[in-house]
Formats: sequence, C-alpha cells, structure tokens
Amino acid sequence: MSDDDVELEARLEEQEVFEPSEEFVSQANVSDAGIYEEFDENWPECWEQAAALLDWEEEYDRVLDDSNPPFYEWFTDGTINASTNCLDRHLDERGDEAAIEWVGEPVDEDNVTLTYSQLHEKVNEAAAALRDLGVGEDDVVTMYMPMIPELPVAMLACARIGAPHSVVFAGFSADALATRMNAADSEYLVTCDGYYRRGDPLDHLDKANEGLAGVDHDTETVVVDRLGPNGDDFGHDLAADQHDWGELMAANEGATVEPVDRDAEDMLFLMYTSGTTGQPKGVKHTTGGYLSWVTWTSQAVLDIKPEDTYFCSADIGWITGHSYIVYGPLALGTTTMMYEGTPDHPDRDRLWEIVEEYGATQLYTAPTAIRAFMKWGKQYPERHDLSSLRLLGTVGEPINPRAWKWYYSNIGDEECPVVDTWWQTETGGMMVTTLPGVKDMKPGSAGPPLPGMDIRIVDTNGDEVEPGRAGYLTVNKPWPGMLRTLYKNDERFIEEYWREYSDVDSDDPDDWVYFPEDGAKIDEDGYITVLGRVDDVINVSGHRLGTMEIESAIVGVEGVAEAAVVGGDHEVKGEAVYAYVIVEEGQEESEAFRQEIVKGVEDAIGPIARPEQVIFTPALPKTRSGKIMRRLLEDIANDEELGDTSTLRNPEVVEDIRRVVQGD
Ligand code: WTA
Repeated sequence: MSDDDVELEARLEEQEVFEPSEEFVSQANVSDAGIYEEFDENWPECWEQAAALLDWEEEYDRVLDDSNPPFYEWFTDGTINASTNCLDRHLDERGDEAAIEWVGEPVDEDNVTLTYSQLHEKVNEAAAALRDLGVGEDDVVTMYMPMIPELPVAMLACARIGAPHSVVFAGFSADALATRMNAADSEYLVTCDGYYRRGDPLDHLDKANEGLAGVDHDTETVVVDRLGPNGDDFGHDLAADQHDWGELMAANEGATVEPVDRDAEDMLFLMYTSGTTGQPKGVKHTTGGYLSWVTWTSQAVLDIKPEDTYFCSADIGWITGHSYIVYGPLALGTTTMMYEGTPDHPDRDRLWEIVEEYGATQLYTAPTAIRAFMKWGKQYPERHDLSSLRLLGTVGEPINPRAWKWYYSNIGDEECPVVDTWWQTETGGMMVTTLPGVKDMKPGSAGPPLPGMDIRIVDTNGDEVEPGRAGYLTVNKPWPGMLRTLYKNDERFIEEYWREYSDVDSDDPDDWVYFPEDGAKIDEDGYITVLGRVDDVINVSGHRLGTMEIESAIVGVEGVAEAAVVGGDHEVKGEAVYAYVIVEEGQEESEAFRQEIVKGVEDAIGPIARPEQVIFTPALPKTRSGKIMRRLLEDIANDEELGDTSTLRNPEVVEDIRRVVQGD
C-alpha cells in the first residue's frame, strides 16, 4: 500500500442504514428498483430517457458516438435550444406560475417573483440587448455577478442566442476575472454595481473595473444597478464601453428573439475550475448532453415536480447553481429559489425562515453549511415550521455521519430522505448518490453509482480493490453530462483526466477511463464512500481551490521566497488554508507581513482562499527530487503523528516546523 492508501484507509467510518419513508416512496419520480438493471442492459440507449425530458428541434440520429475517445459525442445531429426548454415550452401550462422566487439579503426589501411568462419576457429583452451590443453565436459572454435575478436572465439570454456564458463567482478577485476573460477571449461582461453582504452594500463594480483593466482585448460591459441609491456612495460613472442594463432592457421592451438552433454538441457554457496547476481549467459543457443530464438527475434524484418550490442554497457562480438552480429545475418547469445573502443574516434562522415562508419542498446545500447549522444549534430550525420539506440534499464535500444525522433529524424530522450527491464541475451533474425513492441511505456514504454509470474503485494500476479498502474512483464509461474538453486545450483535457488510467493510444472506448482525482471505497453492496481529493486541490467550505494557485499568489508578494499550501482540518469549513512561507533575506517575519500575504491571496483569488494561518518557516520538507512533501505539512497542520520522513532530503526541518507551529 502506498502512503496515500494508508491515509485514505484511516478516514473510513462505520455505517448505519436508513430507509426512505413509505410516504416519500409512494410519490417518488423514480421508485422502481429495476431501473439499475434496465439501464445496464440497455446502455447507452438508456440515456434516451434523459433526452426525452427535453424538446428537440431536430431529433438526434445517434445516442452516443464513441468513435474518437475521449472526445465523445452525445445525441449527435440533434438540435436544441436550452432557453426554449427552460422557458417557452412551459408558457402554456405554467406561464403564470413562479419560475424564480428571489429573496434579497435585506429583510425589509421586497422579494421578487418572476413567473415563467415574466422570465421569458426578460430573457427575450436581454437577448435582444446582447445582440444589439454585437454578441453573436459562439461569442463567450462573461458574467461576474452575485445572486441577483439578472444572472439567470443573462445566462438564459445567452443560451437563446447561442452565446456560451462563463460565469465567474462574484467572490473571486479582479485578477481572477481578468485571467478568465483572457483565457476565454471573452469580449463581453455582464456585472453589477454591488450587492449586500451581512447588511452592508458592497462595491462590486470597482472590482470588475479593476479586472477589466487586466483584460488584454477590447470589451463591452453591461452593468446591472442592484443597489439603487444605496450604491451612490461608491460614486461610479459608467465608461464609454459600459452600458446600463436597465436602459438596454427598456430600449428592447417587448422584443422577441427567435431561439437559435444549437447542435447538441455546441457549447452551452464554460466554467473555470481549479486544478493541480496554477492555471484554472475551462470546462466545456454542451447543450444537448448537459441539459439532458441535469434535467434527468433533477427529476430522478432531487425528485423535482413542476408544483414544487425547490431551494438550493448554492451560488450560481459555481456548477451546483448552474445545474441545480438554473438549468435542471427550470427545464422541469418548477419554481426555483434564489437567496442573495448568507444564512446567518440578520439571524441564524434566515434559511429556515425562507423555507417556512415559501413552503420549500426540497433543500439542497453543502456539508459546510450543515456543520455551521449544527454548531449554532437546533433552536434556530426549531423556531420554524419546516414540514413542507420532502427531500434534503448535500453536495460539495464528504459529509460526516454526525452532520448527516443532524440534518436528517433536525431539518428533515426523520421524514425526508437525504441524497448525498457526489459529482464535479466536470461531470456536469450528479454521478453517485442514492435514488431516494429506491435505495436505503447510509450516512457518510454517497451511495451507489446512478443507473447506467460504470464507476469503479481501483488501485494505482487500475485494478479494482476489494470492498472496504480505499482506492481511487474512476468512471469507466462516458455519460451525457460529461465535459467535452478543456476550452481550446484538448491536450490538457487528456492529461488531466484520462492519461492516468487509459491507454491513450487506443481508439477503443473500453481503454479510456476518466479519473476525477478522488479517493473512495466501495462496500459489498456497491455503496461508495468518497474520501476526498487525492491531488493538490483542497476543499474549503465546499469551494474547490488549487493549492498551486494560492502558492503562486503568495510568492507574488514581495519578500516571499517560497511557499507551500496545504489543507488543514477545520470544524466548519472542512478544510482551511495553511500557508508555510519562507521569507527572503532581510524580510521581517512580522504580523504586518503576515497580513500582506493574506491580502496578496485575497487580491489574486478572493477572500474564499484567505489563509487561516501563515506559518513562517526556515525551510520546507522536500524529497530528494526536490518535491515538497505536502503530506507532512498537513500532518503538522492537523497536529497528527508524522508520516514517513525517510525519503526526505532534509528530515530535520520537519521538527523545526512543528516547533514553530506549536509556538515553542
Ligand atoms: C468533492 C461540486 C464527497 C469531490 C459539485 C469532488 C464530494 C469535488 C461530494 C468537486 C460528495 C463533491 N461527497 N466529496 N457528495 N461532492 N465532492 O468541481 O472531491 O466544485 O472532486 O463540484 O468536490 O468539486 P466541484
């Protein structure tokens, strides 16, 4: 066993079993256990069931074209428009029903309801406005926006005219915005003046402008006025290449825009995500496969029905919000909620207040939030009637059984199944989880692979490991929602996801295996427990961050000679950023310098990547080949017994660093 295997083994936990209630099963969208066998026997045609949930302009000829792996094509020669599927087709029956229920952070502000008809109108106007600005089919439009209704409006407007969007999380820094706009050659930006955070208006346009200054080509920007007079203090004037969203919408009032027929394989959007190297990866998702995948999983796993009020507390700036606030729920014609603020403003029962007020039927959130709720105490949910909830979901990181049970008991009143959904930006949608109307739940284990999925837990040679043993999760058959490539970088796509376990010279799809870089174990009954990343990516509050990105931000601070970043255990965040820093000769190891380093990270990436601790150290533990042994630094951060140090070139530094951390 390698060191990695030993580490994974140590993270395994005992499991209990919970059954979904009869009441839930009797109304579940999927309740026939035969679906697993049916999909296996009928693969890949089984995925016609997903495509059948959508309206196609031209029917596809083939479900899967696997003639050129790993460049798979799904629903080939079909044409489809995502905005038609999320809007137009619901107008007859659900035009007056709420598509989006938006709740702003300030409690005294009016909430916004957009019915399907109203959303359709706005999307048409926005599509016309974007076209006026010059946006054409296949032009990438960047959105740097918080959780305001104009974000899904802009996304669907892009989908309508066949312009892929690239949404950059509003909490990311100006630099991060510039990097992504440059990488995508994106000439258009939709942003806003600001938004509210814990009661205060926050200047966002300032950050957007700073980012635009780093963009290496001309741009046109549209600015939404979110704050009204509360943003006046920021004193923003729009530049010549910046347009007011409200004015553009007014100028296009009542406009209708014919949806563009997109090929199933045409790009719907790009989403940048962190990887092992410093440069973020531009994950490309397609129109037909992605939309089929998120619609099918929304129906089968989240059990969404049109009459539901479904609440996902993620930010649309991440993949969870794309797939399971916008595209999946709207394709199914349900009511999807959006909440602008944090769950503890003005008090720690804000989320429960929203659930009660709107009668939310599903809640989909992240373990980091559940751990925070648990820490705050059950008196907050107890103040509210949460009986409208029918199903609970979690995503983003492993959930420990204690947090799972707290969620199940205190939020779901032991009545709602909990779906622990494992997936990634790259997979487009859910991959491993229980079908809530079919399978029992085991806290801490995500569950079996979804029907039609070939997922295995293997050792470093790609051979399946015994049940109960830790290994690496691989996906051995393609699926419709998979990323198609990294934007303009097919080579890196192969390197990052396929080379590890595939015969890259083969054109037989059986020789191609997708590696998501997660460790996992599988039980005798096929339930998978995901143990976490096995690459240099850490998961802070469910946000995926590359340690290399943070390191390069730190070494960018004048006075820093070298840095190593690891994830240390954190009660609420899951992992927290620990930065080990070697300073240059003459640089003082002061508190002020520590703050400079923290600021350097915030400027380069955003506050989400802020180091919890900056530890000055005279040296870093390195192997003889010069590689930093991050695992030892993790052990020190977690105050754990140190792993093997025998392969180190400089074993003595480890104890030195430990002394610094422990402060003796
Ligand atoms: C982790 C978020 C355990 C995993 C949708 C994955 C999980 C990474 C789970 C992707 C889960 C996500 N249990 N780990 N239910 N869900 N992960 O791209 O390490 O932001 O590789 O996508 O989050 O993060 P991403």
